[in-house]
Amino acid sequence: MLTDPATMAPHAEDWRKRYRGKPLAVVFPANPEEVAAVVRLAGECHIGLVPQGGNTGLSGGATPDDSGRQVVLSLQRLRALRAIDPINRTITVEAGMTLAQVQTEAEARGLLFPLSLGAEGSATIGGNLATNAGGTAVLRYGNARELCLGLEVVTAQGEIWSGLRGLRKDNTGYDLRDLFIGSEGTLGIITAAVLKLYPQPAAIMTALARVASPTAALELLQFAQQRAGAMLTGFEYMAAMSTRLVAAHLGAVAKPCLQIIGDTRDGVGPQAADTVLIELSHPESESAAKEALETLLGHAITQGWVEDALVAQSGAQSAAFWRLRESITLAAAADGPHVKHDIALPISSLPAFIAAMDEELEQRYPGIRIINFGHFGDGNLHYNLAPPTLEGNPDTDTRRAHYLEFLGLHEDAIRRAVHDRVMAMQGSISAEHGLGQLRRDEARHYKSAVEISLMVSIKHALDPLGILNPGKVLCLDQSLPGDRS
Ligand code: FAD
Ligand code: MLT
Ligand code: ZN
Repeated sequence: MLTDPATMAPHAEDWRKRYRGKPLAVVFPANPEEVAAVVRLAGECHIGLVPQGGNTGLSGGATPDDSGRQVVLSLQRLRALRAIDPINRTITVEAGMTLAQVQTEAEARGLLFPLSLGAEGSATIGGNLATNAGGTAVLRYGNARELCLGLEVVTAQGEIWSGLRGLRKDNTGYDLRDLFIGSEGTLGIITAAVLKLYPQPAAIMTALARVASPTAALELLQFAQQRAGAMLTGFEYMAAMSTRLVAAHLGAVAKPCLQIIGDTRDGVGPQAADTVLIELSHPESESAAKEALETLLGHAITQGWVEDALVAQSGAQSAAFWRLRESITLAAAADGPHVKHDIALPISSLPAFIAAMDEELEQRYPGIRIINFGHFGDGNLHYNLAPPTLEGNPDTDTRRAHYLEFLGLHEDAIRRAVHDRVMAMQGSISAEHGLGQLRRDEARHYKSAVEISLMVSIKHALDPLGILNPGKVLCLDQSLPGDRS
Protein backbone atom coordinates (compact mmCIF):
# COMPACT_ATOMS: atom_id res chain seq x y z
CA MET A 1 0.00 0.00 0.00
CA LEU A 2 1.21 3.50 -0.87
CA THR A 3 0.09 6.60 0.99
CA ASP A 4 2.86 9.07 0.20
CA PRO A 5 1.65 11.62 -2.40
CA ALA A 6 4.94 11.50 -4.32
CA THR A 7 4.92 7.72 -4.78
CA MET A 8 1.18 7.71 -5.48
CA ALA A 9 1.56 10.41 -8.16
CA PRO A 10 1.79 8.08 -11.21
CA HIS A 11 -1.46 6.44 -10.12
CA ALA A 12 -3.22 9.75 -9.48
CA GLU A 13 -3.02 11.11 -13.02
CA ASP A 14 -4.31 9.82 -16.37
CA TRP A 15 -2.13 9.04 -19.40
CA ARG A 16 -3.02 12.32 -21.13
CA LYS A 17 -2.43 14.37 -17.96
CA ARG A 18 -5.89 15.89 -18.24
CA TYR A 19 -7.11 14.57 -14.84
CA ARG A 20 -5.31 14.50 -11.52
CA GLY A 21 -6.82 13.24 -8.27
CA LYS A 22 -5.82 12.90 -4.62
CA PRO A 23 -6.08 9.25 -3.64
CA LEU A 24 -6.24 8.32 0.03
CA ALA A 25 -4.01 5.34 -0.81
CA VAL A 26 -3.01 3.02 -3.63
CA VAL A 27 -3.35 -0.66 -2.78
CA PHE A 28 -1.82 -3.63 -4.58
CA PRO A 29 -3.62 -6.87 -3.62
CA ALA A 30 -1.87 -10.04 -4.78
CA ASN A 31 -4.84 -12.35 -5.42
CA PRO A 32 -8.64 -12.32 -5.76
CA GLU A 33 -9.14 -13.02 -2.05
CA GLU A 34 -7.14 -9.89 -1.16
CA VAL A 35 -9.12 -7.88 -3.73
CA ALA A 36 -12.32 -9.13 -2.07
CA ALA A 37 -11.02 -8.18 1.38
CA VAL A 38 -10.22 -4.64 0.19
CA VAL A 39 -13.71 -4.32 -1.31
CA ARG A 40 -15.38 -5.46 1.93
CA LEU A 41 -13.32 -2.97 3.91
CA ALA A 42 -14.19 -0.18 1.48
CA GLY A 43 -17.87 -1.04 1.91
CA GLU A 44 -17.59 -0.88 5.71
CA CYS A 45 -15.79 2.48 5.56
CA HIS A 46 -17.81 3.94 2.65
CA ILE A 47 -14.64 4.54 0.68
CA GLY A 48 -14.71 4.68 -3.11
CA LEU A 49 -12.46 2.24 -4.99
CA VAL A 50 -10.94 3.10 -8.36
CA PRO A 51 -9.74 -0.04 -10.18
CA GLN A 52 -6.58 0.55 -12.16
CA GLY A 53 -4.68 -1.67 -14.59
CA GLY A 54 -1.97 -0.16 -16.78
CA ASN A 55 -3.44 3.37 -16.44
CA THR A 56 -3.35 3.88 -20.21
CA GLY A 57 -7.07 4.66 -20.50
CA LEU A 58 -7.98 7.76 -22.48
CA SER A 59 -11.22 8.77 -20.72
CA GLY A 60 -10.00 9.40 -17.16
CA GLY A 61 -11.74 6.21 -15.94
CA ALA A 62 -8.84 5.04 -13.77
CA THR A 63 -8.14 8.40 -12.12
CA PRO A 64 -9.50 9.07 -8.61
CA ASP A 65 -11.24 12.33 -7.75
CA ASP A 66 -9.65 14.99 -5.52
CA SER A 67 -11.79 14.33 -2.42
CA GLY A 68 -9.07 12.29 -0.70
CA ARG A 69 -11.79 9.68 -0.07
CA GLN A 70 -11.01 7.30 -2.92
CA VAL A 71 -8.51 4.45 -2.95
CA VAL A 72 -6.86 3.30 -6.17
CA LEU A 73 -7.01 -0.49 -6.39
CA SER A 74 -4.21 -1.61 -8.70
CA LEU A 75 -4.50 -5.05 -10.30
CA GLN A 76 -0.84 -5.08 -11.31
CA ARG A 77 0.17 -7.90 -8.97
CA LEU A 78 -2.46 -10.27 -10.32
CA ARG A 79 -0.62 -11.36 -13.41
CA ALA A 80 -0.46 -15.15 -13.37
CA LEU A 81 -1.10 -17.39 -16.34
CA ARG A 82 -3.66 -19.74 -14.83
CA ALA A 83 -4.22 -22.18 -17.70
CA ILE A 84 -3.92 -22.70 -21.41
CA ASP A 85 -5.92 -25.17 -23.49
CA PRO A 86 -4.53 -25.29 -27.05
CA ILE A 87 -7.29 -27.63 -28.21
CA ASN A 88 -10.13 -25.51 -26.85
CA ARG A 89 -8.03 -22.55 -28.02
CA THR A 90 -8.35 -20.67 -24.74
CA ILE A 91 -6.01 -18.99 -22.29
CA THR A 92 -6.93 -18.13 -18.71
CA VAL A 93 -5.01 -15.18 -17.28
CA GLU A 94 -5.22 -12.86 -14.32
CA ALA A 95 -6.42 -9.32 -14.89
CA GLY A 96 -3.10 -7.56 -14.35
CA MET A 97 -1.27 -9.42 -17.13
CA THR A 98 -0.37 -6.97 -19.88
CA LEU A 99 -1.92 -7.40 -23.29
CA ALA A 100 1.56 -7.82 -24.81
CA GLN A 101 2.29 -10.65 -22.38
CA VAL A 102 -0.92 -12.47 -23.34
CA GLN A 103 0.06 -12.13 -27.02
CA THR A 104 3.52 -13.55 -26.21
CA GLU A 105 2.10 -16.50 -24.23
CA ALA A 106 -0.20 -17.35 -27.14
CA GLU A 107 2.56 -16.99 -29.71
CA ALA A 108 4.84 -19.29 -27.72
CA ARG A 109 2.21 -22.03 -28.32
CA GLY A 110 1.86 -21.24 -32.02
CA LEU A 111 -1.43 -19.43 -31.42
CA LEU A 112 -2.69 -15.87 -31.79
CA PHE A 113 -4.42 -13.55 -29.36
CA PRO A 114 -5.54 -10.92 -31.84
CA LEU A 115 -6.39 -7.93 -29.63
CA SER A 116 -3.80 -5.30 -30.51
CA LEU A 117 -3.40 -1.62 -29.60
CA GLY A 118 -0.68 0.97 -29.28
CA ALA A 119 -0.52 0.79 -25.47
CA GLU A 120 -0.35 -3.01 -25.32
CA GLY A 121 3.00 -3.04 -23.49
CA SER A 122 1.36 -1.46 -20.41
CA ALA A 123 -2.39 -1.95 -20.80
CA THR A 124 -3.74 -4.95 -18.89
CA ILE A 125 -6.32 -7.55 -19.83
CA GLY A 126 -8.51 -6.36 -16.95
CA GLY A 127 -8.41 -2.81 -18.34
CA ASN A 128 -9.01 -4.08 -21.88
CA LEU A 129 -12.12 -5.94 -20.76
CA ALA A 130 -13.34 -3.19 -18.44
CA THR A 131 -13.24 -0.75 -21.38
CA ASN A 132 -14.20 -3.33 -24.04
CA ALA A 133 -11.11 -2.19 -25.93
CA GLY A 134 -11.10 -2.21 -29.70
CA GLY A 135 -7.76 -1.71 -31.41
CA THR A 136 -6.55 -2.54 -34.87
CA ALA A 137 -7.93 -6.02 -35.57
CA VAL A 138 -11.61 -5.55 -34.73
CA LEU A 139 -12.83 -5.87 -38.29
CA ARG A 140 -11.65 -9.48 -38.35
CA TYR A 141 -11.70 -10.63 -34.71
CA GLY A 142 -14.04 -8.27 -32.86
CA ASN A 143 -13.68 -6.12 -29.72
CA ALA A 144 -12.33 -7.39 -26.38
CA ARG A 145 -15.89 -8.57 -25.61
CA GLU A 146 -15.89 -10.98 -28.55
CA LEU A 147 -12.54 -12.37 -27.43
CA CYS A 148 -13.62 -13.23 -23.90
CA LEU A 149 -15.44 -16.44 -22.94
CA GLY A 150 -15.41 -16.20 -19.16
CA LEU A 151 -14.63 -13.95 -16.22
CA GLU A 152 -13.78 -14.02 -12.54
CA VAL A 153 -15.08 -10.93 -10.79
CA VAL A 154 -15.02 -9.53 -7.26
CA THR A 155 -18.44 -8.05 -6.63
CA ALA A 156 -19.19 -4.83 -4.77
CA GLN A 157 -20.13 -6.99 -1.77
CA GLY A 158 -16.63 -8.47 -1.73
CA GLU A 159 -17.66 -11.87 -3.02
CA ILE A 160 -15.85 -13.75 -5.78
CA TRP A 161 -17.93 -14.80 -8.79
CA SER A 162 -16.13 -17.50 -10.71
CA GLY A 163 -17.42 -17.55 -14.26
CA LEU A 164 -14.18 -18.79 -15.81
CA ARG A 165 -15.88 -21.01 -18.39
CA GLY A 166 -14.27 -21.62 -21.75
CA LEU A 167 -17.57 -22.14 -23.57
CA ARG A 168 -18.62 -20.83 -26.98
CA LYS A 169 -22.24 -21.47 -26.12
CA ASP A 170 -23.91 -20.94 -22.73
CA ASN A 171 -27.50 -19.77 -22.48
CA THR A 172 -28.12 -20.24 -18.79
CA GLY A 173 -29.76 -16.98 -17.85
CA TYR A 174 -28.57 -13.37 -17.83
CA ASP A 175 -25.12 -12.90 -19.32
CA LEU A 176 -23.18 -11.57 -16.33
CA ARG A 177 -19.92 -11.65 -18.29
CA ASP A 178 -21.24 -9.20 -20.83
CA LEU A 179 -22.52 -6.95 -18.05
CA PHE A 180 -19.07 -6.58 -16.50
CA ILE A 181 -17.26 -6.19 -19.82
CA GLY A 182 -17.26 -2.50 -20.74
CA SER A 183 -18.54 -1.39 -17.32
CA GLU A 184 -15.29 0.52 -16.62
CA GLY A 185 -14.88 -0.76 -13.08
CA THR A 186 -18.28 0.51 -11.92
CA LEU A 187 -20.02 -2.87 -11.45
CA GLY A 188 -17.29 -5.27 -10.35
CA ILE A 189 -13.56 -5.85 -10.33
CA ILE A 190 -12.30 -8.27 -12.95
CA THR A 191 -9.61 -10.55 -11.50
CA ALA A 192 -9.21 -13.15 -14.27
CA ALA A 193 -10.53 -14.01 -17.72
CA VAL A 194 -10.75 -16.87 -20.22
CA LEU A 195 -9.75 -15.53 -23.63
CA LYS A 196 -10.15 -16.93 -27.12
CA LEU A 197 -7.11 -17.87 -29.18
CA TYR A 198 -6.83 -18.29 -32.94
CA PRO A 199 -4.47 -20.11 -35.28
CA GLN A 200 -1.47 -18.02 -36.31
CA PRO A 201 -1.82 -16.99 -39.96
CA ALA A 202 1.01 -18.28 -42.17
CA ALA A 203 1.82 -14.74 -43.28
CA ILE A 204 0.86 -11.16 -42.48
CA MET A 205 1.40 -8.51 -45.17
CA THR A 206 1.01 -4.80 -44.78
CA ALA A 207 0.82 -1.93 -47.26
CA LEU A 208 0.54 1.83 -47.09
CA ALA A 209 -1.70 3.40 -49.70
CA ARG A 210 -2.12 7.08 -50.51
CA VAL A 211 -5.84 7.61 -51.06
CA ALA A 212 -7.49 10.39 -53.02
CA SER A 213 -10.20 11.06 -50.40
CA PRO A 214 -12.25 9.39 -47.65
CA THR A 215 -14.67 8.31 -50.38
CA ALA A 216 -11.78 6.58 -52.15
CA ALA A 217 -10.79 4.95 -48.86
CA LEU A 218 -14.32 3.61 -48.54
CA GLU A 219 -14.23 2.23 -52.10
CA LEU A 220 -10.93 0.55 -51.27
CA LEU A 221 -12.38 -0.95 -48.09
CA GLN A 222 -15.43 -2.33 -49.92
CA PHE A 223 -13.26 -3.85 -52.60
CA ALA A 224 -10.77 -5.30 -50.10
CA GLN A 225 -13.56 -6.87 -48.06
CA GLN A 226 -15.10 -8.35 -51.17
CA ARG A 227 -11.81 -9.74 -52.47
CA ALA A 228 -9.96 -10.68 -49.32
CA GLY A 229 -12.90 -11.52 -47.02
CA ALA A 230 -11.65 -12.75 -43.65
CA MET A 231 -8.02 -12.27 -44.75
CA LEU A 232 -8.44 -8.52 -44.30
CA THR A 233 -7.25 -7.96 -40.73
CA GLY A 234 -6.48 -4.24 -40.68
CA PHE A 235 -7.79 -1.13 -42.38
CA GLU A 236 -6.62 2.07 -40.68
CA TYR A 237 -7.11 5.60 -41.99
CA MET A 238 -4.70 8.49 -41.37
CA ALA A 239 -5.69 11.93 -42.63
CA ALA A 240 -2.78 14.12 -43.72
CA MET A 241 -2.57 16.15 -40.50
CA SER A 242 -2.07 13.05 -38.35
CA THR A 243 0.94 11.75 -40.27
CA ARG A 244 2.24 15.32 -40.60
CA LEU A 245 2.34 15.52 -36.79
CA VAL A 246 4.32 12.28 -36.63
CA ALA A 247 6.79 13.73 -39.17
CA ALA A 248 7.07 16.93 -37.12
CA HIS A 249 7.52 15.36 -33.68
CA LEU A 250 8.85 11.86 -34.38
CA GLY A 251 10.72 12.32 -37.66
CA ALA A 252 12.54 8.96 -37.54
CA VAL A 253 9.22 7.12 -37.30
CA ALA A 254 7.80 8.90 -40.36
CA LYS A 255 10.94 8.57 -42.49
CA PRO A 256 10.35 5.05 -43.90
CA CYS A 257 6.85 6.12 -44.99
CA LEU A 258 7.55 9.49 -46.63
CA GLN A 259 7.08 8.16 -50.17
CA ILE A 260 3.41 7.64 -49.37
CA ILE A 261 2.54 10.16 -46.66
CA GLY A 262 4.43 13.02 -48.32
CA ASP A 263 7.20 15.11 -46.85
CA THR A 264 6.00 18.58 -46.02
CA ARG A 265 9.19 19.65 -44.31
CA ASP A 266 11.53 20.07 -47.24
CA GLY A 267 9.21 19.85 -50.23
CA VAL A 268 10.52 16.41 -51.23
CA GLY A 269 7.92 13.90 -52.40
CA PRO A 270 4.21 14.40 -52.86
CA GLN A 271 2.07 16.85 -50.95
CA ALA A 272 0.94 15.50 -47.60
CA ALA A 273 -1.88 13.10 -48.30
CA ASP A 274 -4.46 10.89 -46.65
CA THR A 275 -3.17 7.37 -46.14
CA VAL A 276 -4.61 3.94 -45.47
CA LEU A 277 -2.71 1.15 -43.76
CA ILE A 278 -4.03 -2.15 -44.99
CA GLU A 279 -3.15 -5.57 -43.58
CA LEU A 280 -3.87 -9.05 -44.96
CA SER A 281 -3.36 -12.24 -42.97
CA HIS A 282 -2.96 -15.23 -45.26
CA PRO A 283 -3.44 -18.89 -44.27
CA GLU A 284 -0.94 -20.15 -46.90
CA SER A 285 2.27 -18.23 -47.51
CA GLU A 286 4.01 -14.88 -47.65
CA SER A 287 4.14 -14.93 -51.43
CA ALA A 288 0.39 -15.63 -51.64
CA ALA A 289 -0.29 -12.76 -49.21
CA LYS A 290 1.92 -10.40 -51.18
CA GLU A 291 0.30 -11.36 -54.45
CA ALA A 292 -3.20 -10.86 -53.03
CA LEU A 293 -2.26 -7.44 -51.69
CA GLU A 294 -0.54 -6.34 -54.89
CA THR A 295 -3.48 -7.44 -57.05
CA LEU A 296 -5.90 -5.64 -54.78
CA LEU A 297 -3.90 -2.40 -54.76
CA GLY A 298 -3.22 -2.63 -58.51
CA HIS A 299 -6.96 -2.64 -59.15
CA ALA A 300 -7.46 0.25 -56.70
CA ILE A 301 -4.83 2.30 -58.58
CA THR A 302 -6.56 1.60 -61.90
CA GLN A 303 -9.83 2.76 -60.37
CA GLY A 304 -8.20 5.97 -59.12
CA TRP A 305 -8.96 5.24 -55.43
CA VAL A 306 -5.27 4.83 -54.63
CA GLU A 307 -2.65 7.24 -55.93
CA ASP A 308 0.42 5.32 -54.83
CA ALA A 309 1.09 2.32 -52.62
CA LEU A 310 3.97 0.59 -50.92
CA VAL A 311 3.72 -3.11 -50.02
CA ALA A 312 6.07 -3.99 -47.17
CA GLN A 313 8.97 -6.12 -48.35
CA SER A 314 9.87 -7.42 -44.92
CA GLY A 315 8.60 -7.82 -41.39
CA ALA A 316 10.69 -4.80 -40.44
CA GLN A 317 9.00 -2.64 -43.06
CA SER A 318 5.57 -3.84 -41.91
CA ALA A 319 6.51 -2.91 -38.37
CA ALA A 320 7.61 0.54 -39.59
CA PHE A 321 4.19 1.10 -41.19
CA TRP A 322 2.41 0.07 -38.00
CA ARG A 323 4.74 2.28 -35.96
CA LEU A 324 3.66 5.27 -38.02
CA ARG A 325 0.00 4.51 -37.30
CA GLU A 326 0.53 3.82 -33.61
CA SER A 327 2.65 6.91 -33.08
CA ILE A 328 -0.08 9.39 -33.96
CA THR A 329 -1.33 9.54 -30.38
CA LEU A 330 2.21 10.10 -29.08
CA ALA A 331 2.93 12.78 -31.69
CA ALA A 332 -0.35 14.55 -30.92
CA ALA A 333 0.48 14.44 -27.19
CA ALA A 334 3.93 15.88 -27.93
CA ASP A 335 2.30 18.65 -29.95
CA GLY A 336 0.18 19.68 -26.96
CA PRO A 337 -3.33 19.50 -25.55
CA HIS A 338 -6.18 18.95 -28.01
CA VAL A 339 -9.83 17.91 -28.08
CA LYS A 340 -10.05 14.14 -28.21
CA HIS A 341 -12.86 12.17 -29.81
CA ASP A 342 -13.59 8.50 -30.23
CA ILE A 343 -16.60 8.34 -32.47
CA ALA A 344 -18.35 5.55 -34.35
CA LEU A 345 -20.51 5.94 -37.42
CA PRO A 346 -22.09 3.56 -39.90
CA ILE A 347 -19.15 2.86 -42.24
CA SER A 348 -21.20 4.10 -45.18
CA SER A 349 -21.50 7.55 -43.52
CA LEU A 350 -17.79 8.14 -42.90
CA PRO A 351 -17.02 10.26 -46.03
CA ALA A 352 -20.14 12.43 -45.58
CA PHE A 353 -19.35 12.99 -41.92
CA ILE A 354 -15.73 13.92 -42.59
CA ALA A 355 -16.62 16.33 -45.41
CA ALA A 356 -19.34 18.13 -43.46
CA MET A 357 -17.52 18.21 -40.14
CA ASP A 358 -14.21 19.40 -41.62
CA GLU A 359 -16.01 22.20 -43.41
CA GLU A 360 -18.02 23.31 -40.38
CA LEU A 361 -15.00 23.41 -38.05
CA GLU A 362 -12.67 25.07 -40.56
CA GLN A 363 -15.24 27.82 -41.05
CA ARG A 364 -15.92 28.32 -37.35
CA TYR A 365 -12.29 28.06 -36.19
CA PRO A 366 -9.94 29.16 -39.00
CA GLY A 367 -6.61 27.36 -38.75
CA ILE A 368 -7.94 24.54 -36.55
CA ARG A 369 -5.97 21.34 -37.13
CA ILE A 370 -8.01 18.19 -37.74
CA ILE A 371 -6.07 15.15 -36.54
CA ASN A 372 -8.40 12.57 -37.99
CA PHE A 373 -7.32 8.93 -37.92
CA GLY A 374 -8.61 5.60 -36.81
CA HIS A 375 -10.13 2.25 -37.39
CA PHE A 376 -11.92 3.08 -40.66
CA GLY A 377 -12.84 -0.56 -41.23
CA ASP A 378 -14.89 -0.45 -38.00
CA GLY A 379 -16.41 2.99 -38.65
CA ASN A 380 -14.37 4.33 -35.70
CA LEU A 381 -12.55 7.65 -36.05
CA HIS A 382 -10.38 9.49 -33.55
CA TYR A 383 -11.51 12.83 -34.90
CA ASN A 384 -9.23 14.99 -32.74
CA LEU A 385 -8.95 18.76 -32.98
CA ALA A 386 -5.85 20.79 -32.19
CA PRO A 387 -5.70 24.57 -31.85
CA PRO A 388 -4.24 26.61 -34.73
CA THR A 389 -0.45 26.81 -34.56
CA LEU A 390 1.34 29.96 -33.42
CA GLU A 391 3.44 31.98 -35.84
CA GLY A 392 7.21 31.58 -35.53
CA ASN A 393 8.71 28.79 -33.49
CA PRO A 394 7.41 29.21 -29.93
CA ASP A 395 8.92 27.19 -27.07
CA THR A 396 6.89 24.31 -25.63
CA ASP A 397 5.55 26.26 -22.63
CA THR A 398 4.35 29.19 -24.76
CA ARG A 399 2.72 26.81 -27.20
CA ARG A 400 1.04 24.85 -24.40
CA ALA A 401 -0.30 28.04 -22.78
CA HIS A 402 -1.70 29.20 -26.12
CA TYR A 403 -3.35 25.82 -26.76
CA LEU A 404 -4.87 25.71 -23.26
CA GLU A 405 -6.30 29.19 -23.75
CA PHE A 406 -7.90 28.09 -27.04
CA LEU A 407 -9.31 24.96 -25.41
CA GLY A 408 -10.61 26.94 -22.45
CA LEU A 409 -12.60 29.09 -24.87
CA HIS A 410 -13.73 26.51 -27.41
CA GLU A 411 -13.36 22.90 -26.20
CA ASP A 412 -16.96 22.45 -25.02
CA ALA A 413 -18.44 23.98 -28.16
CA ILE A 414 -16.19 21.90 -30.44
CA ARG A 415 -17.06 18.70 -28.61
CA ARG A 416 -20.76 19.48 -28.77
CA ALA A 417 -20.58 20.28 -32.50
CA VAL A 418 -18.83 17.00 -33.25
CA HIS A 419 -21.09 14.92 -31.03
CA ASP A 420 -24.27 16.60 -32.32
CA ARG A 421 -23.36 15.66 -35.87
CA VAL A 422 -22.33 12.14 -34.84
CA MET A 423 -25.64 11.58 -33.08
CA ALA A 424 -27.62 13.08 -35.97
CA MET A 425 -25.94 10.49 -38.19
CA GLN A 426 -26.86 7.59 -35.84
CA GLY A 427 -23.36 7.25 -34.43
CA SER A 428 -21.78 6.86 -31.00
CA ILE A 429 -19.69 9.30 -28.95
CA SER A 430 -17.44 6.51 -27.71
CA ALA A 431 -16.47 3.61 -29.91
CA GLU A 432 -13.73 2.11 -27.77
CA HIS A 433 -12.30 4.30 -24.99
CA GLY A 434 -15.44 4.41 -22.85
CA LEU A 435 -17.12 7.24 -20.96
CA GLY A 436 -14.93 7.40 -17.85
CA GLN A 437 -15.18 10.97 -16.62
CA LEU A 438 -14.42 12.59 -19.98
CA ARG A 439 -17.69 11.66 -21.69
CA ARG A 440 -19.95 10.87 -18.76
CA ASP A 441 -22.03 14.03 -19.01
CA GLU A 442 -22.04 13.93 -22.80
CA ALA A 443 -23.54 10.43 -22.66
CA ARG A 444 -26.18 11.67 -20.26
CA HIS A 445 -26.97 14.52 -22.65
CA TYR A 446 -27.57 12.19 -25.58
CA LYS A 447 -28.94 8.97 -24.11
CA SER A 448 -32.69 8.61 -23.62
CA ALA A 449 -34.23 8.76 -20.15
CA VAL A 450 -35.14 5.08 -20.51
CA GLU A 451 -31.54 4.09 -21.27
CA ILE A 452 -30.08 6.11 -18.39
CA SER A 453 -32.71 4.78 -16.02
CA LEU A 454 -31.89 1.16 -16.97
CA MET A 455 -28.18 1.83 -16.46
CA VAL A 456 -28.85 3.38 -13.04
CA SER A 457 -31.00 0.39 -12.05
CA ILE A 458 -28.15 -1.98 -12.93
CA LYS A 459 -25.65 0.11 -10.98
CA HIS A 460 -27.94 0.23 -7.90
CA ALA A 461 -28.58 -3.51 -8.07
CA LEU A 462 -24.92 -4.50 -8.29
CA ASP A 463 -23.29 -1.75 -6.23
CA PRO A 464 -25.93 -0.33 -3.87
CA LEU A 465 -23.36 1.54 -1.75
CA GLY A 466 -21.80 3.14 -4.83
CA ILE A 467 -18.25 2.23 -3.85
CA LEU A 468 -17.02 1.03 -7.25
CA ASN A 469 -15.45 3.77 -9.35
CA PRO A 470 -17.79 6.52 -8.14
CA GLY A 471 -18.40 9.36 -10.59
CA LYS A 472 -17.44 7.35 -13.68
CA VAL A 473 -19.86 6.42 -16.48
CA LEU A 474 -22.89 7.65 -14.49
CA CYS A 475 -23.32 10.59 -12.14
CA LEU A 476 -25.58 9.37 -9.38
CA ASP A 477 -25.68 12.75 -7.63
CA GLN A 478 -27.70 14.42 -10.36
CA SER A 479 -31.46 14.04 -10.38
CA LEU A 480 -32.26 11.19 -12.67
CA PRO A 481 -35.06 10.35 -15.04
CA GLY A 482 -37.81 8.55 -13.15
CA ASP A 483 -36.45 10.01 -9.89
CA ARG A 484 -34.10 7.07 -9.29
CA SER A 485 -31.27 9.13 -7.81
P1 FAD B 1 -6.75 1.53 -17.08
O1 FAD B 1 -6.42 2.76 -17.83
O2 FAD B 1 -5.98 1.25 -15.86
O3 FAD B 1 -8.31 1.54 -16.72
C1 FAD B 1 -9.27 1.79 -17.70
C2 FAD B 1 -10.68 1.61 -17.09
O4 FAD B 1 -10.88 0.25 -16.72
C3 FAD B 1 -10.90 2.41 -15.81
O5 FAD B 1 -12.26 2.77 -15.74
C4 FAD B 1 -10.58 1.41 -14.70
O6 FAD B 1 -11.24 1.72 -13.49
C5 FAD B 1 -11.08 0.13 -15.30
N1 FAD B 1 -10.34 -1.08 -14.90
C6 FAD B 1 -9.01 -1.34 -15.10
N2 FAD B 1 -8.73 -2.57 -14.68
C7 FAD B 1 -9.88 -3.11 -14.21
C8 FAD B 1 -10.23 -4.37 -13.64
N3 FAD B 1 -9.34 -5.34 -13.50
N4 FAD B 1 -11.51 -4.56 -13.26
C9 FAD B 1 -12.44 -3.59 -13.42
N5 FAD B 1 -12.17 -2.39 -13.93
C10 FAD B 1 -10.90 -2.16 -14.34
N6 FAD B 1 -7.93 1.71 -26.60
C11 FAD B 1 -8.61 1.03 -27.55
O7 FAD B 1 -9.71 0.54 -27.30
N7 FAD B 1 -8.08 0.90 -28.81
C12 FAD B 1 -6.88 1.39 -29.16
O8 FAD B 1 -6.45 1.27 -30.30
C13 FAD B 1 -6.12 2.08 -28.15
N8 FAD B 1 -4.90 2.58 -28.41
C14 FAD B 1 -4.23 3.27 -27.46
C15 FAD B 1 -2.97 3.81 -27.77
C16 FAD B 1 -2.28 4.54 -26.82
C17 FAD B 1 -0.93 5.11 -27.17
C18 FAD B 1 -2.86 4.75 -25.53
C19 FAD B 1 -2.13 5.52 -24.48
C20 FAD B 1 -4.08 4.21 -25.23
C21 FAD B 1 -4.79 3.47 -26.17
N9 FAD B 1 -6.05 2.93 -25.90
C22 FAD B 1 -6.73 2.23 -26.86
C23 FAD B 1 -6.68 3.14 -24.59
C24 FAD B 1 -6.28 2.11 -23.50
O9 FAD B 1 -5.05 1.53 -23.76
C25 FAD B 1 -7.32 1.03 -23.37
O10 FAD B 1 -8.51 1.60 -22.92
C26 FAD B 1 -6.94 -0.12 -22.44
O11 FAD B 1 -7.91 -1.13 -22.58
C27 FAD B 1 -6.84 0.30 -20.99
O12 FAD B 1 -6.18 -0.70 -20.24
P2 FAD B 1 -5.47 -0.34 -18.84
O13 FAD B 1 -5.05 -1.61 -18.20
O14 FAD B 1 -4.44 0.67 -19.04
O15 FAD B 1 -6.72 0.27 -18.05
C1 MLT C 1 -5.65 4.58 -31.45
O1 MLT C 1 -6.47 4.10 -32.23
O2 MLT C 1 -4.49 4.85 -31.80
C2 MLT C 1 -6.04 4.76 -30.04
O3 MLT C 1 -7.36 4.50 -29.79
C3 MLT C 1 -5.45 5.93 -29.36
C4 MLT C 1 -6.08 7.27 -29.61
O4 MLT C 1 -7.27 7.37 -29.85
O5 MLT C 1 -5.39 8.27 -29.47
ZN1 ZN D 1 -8.36 3.60 -31.45
